[in-house]
Amino acid sequence: MGFMETAADNHVVNFCTEPCIFTDVLRNIDTGLIILDTIDKKVFFKNNHAVKILSVLDDNPDYDDLCLMLCSDLESLKKPGRTKSRQTIIRHEHRVLGYTVYRLPDDDRYISVFIQDITDRHRLAAMDEAAEMMNNISCLFSGIRHEIGNPLNSIKMAITVLQNNINKYSPEETDVYFTRISGEITKMETLLKSFKNFSMFEVPKTSDVDLRIFFENLMHLLGADIRSKNVEVNIELSPEAQYARIDSRALQHVVMNLFANAIDAMAEQPLPQLTIRSERRDDTIMLSIIDNGCGMAEDLIRDAFKPFFTTKPHGTGLGLVISKKMLAQMNCGIEMSSRKGHGTTFIISMPHGELNLQRGSS
Ligand SMILES: Nc1ncnc2c1ncn2[C@@H]1O[C@H](COP(=O)(O)OP(=O)(O)O)[C@@H](O)[C@H]1O
Ligand SMILES: [Mg+2]
Repeated sequence: MGFMETAADNHVVNFCTEPCIFTDVLRNIDTGLIILDTIDKKVFFKNNHAVKILSVLDDNPDYDDLCLMLCSDLESLKKPGRTKSRQTIIRHEHRVLGYTVYRLPDDDRYISVFIQDITDRHRLAAMDEAAEMMNNISCLFSGIRHEIGNPLNSIKMAITVLQNNINKYSPEETDVYFTRISGEITKMETLLKSFKNFSMFEVPKTSDVDLRIFFENLMHLLGADIRSKNVEVNIELSPEAQYARIDSRALQHVVMNLFANAIDAMAEQPLPQLTIRSERRDDTIMLSIIDNGCGMAEDLIRDAFKPFFTTKPHGTGLGLVISKKMLAQMNCGIEMSSRKGHGTTFIISMPHGELNLQRGSS
């Protein structure tokens, strides 16, 4: 137990006026705890579990190694109001370590790191994800079968009828069949076009996007269309949540999709209202898109994000699937809540931009 140096032990004992139950507890819990002294630049305390976890790493890491490995986010902890850095993951020799770095307010000396071996949890999550992916893929295949199969059948039938009657039909009658054939081909083309979006943003380029300017531009683009549908648009962006770290083209695609869905859902609503709201929650910007349209029943809520699920005669059922995938590529999420007859809210969560940080701390 090279790490449980007496010097370190003495320090801890000094903290307490009598034999300290906290030290014993912290030393023996099965969560790793490392306390770094950033002024004397040494490891101040390491409990047994931390020693065990770190033993999977090649060398016994010293203060500098640990700082390098665990505290890359240290600078951000110096900013006012920040006491905790997001959990990060180190992969080493097939093990996955998760940890959280804490700095107590008003304490410039010590940094505490809670560290755990989360390999098993990680593996379970990966298995879950794989099962979910298989589900989606089989859903995708049956969707493709259906979406391509139907127009193909219809084309085949039209050609057979034409073949059998080519000498009997008038040019007008023949034209009806050709029109039907080209309509079905257009359907398949539309479907193929929407597949293209799956790879359109393979490598999203994220930067600080000013949401105020983003929505101004978007409203220029869509304003006339939205006005023609008499939709009242309210944009409520909090100054705290103005800059998001995202690819603006991808965000535009996602938001336009959500707007289109909202407008469809409000078709029967005499006073359609679309609200866009941004709020800051810790390191995240929550962008809500709220409509007062038809809403969704429970089973629809469950199906809305499934590939090819649509309730619209001309829908593809791919809008939400593609949006979710694009957002995931940029470390963003999308959630939905809806009440039948009342409306739907989509919430996009995005990392805030550096510019937000500067404003927040100034
Ligand atoms: N804002 C909304 N309000 C009500 N229902 C919605 C809303 N957004 C999506 N939906 C439901 O989710 C389904 C899937 O949406 P989407 O993936 O965009 O495909 P599409 O719009 O082509 O149908 C829609 O057909 C609709 O039933
Ligand atoms: Mg849609």
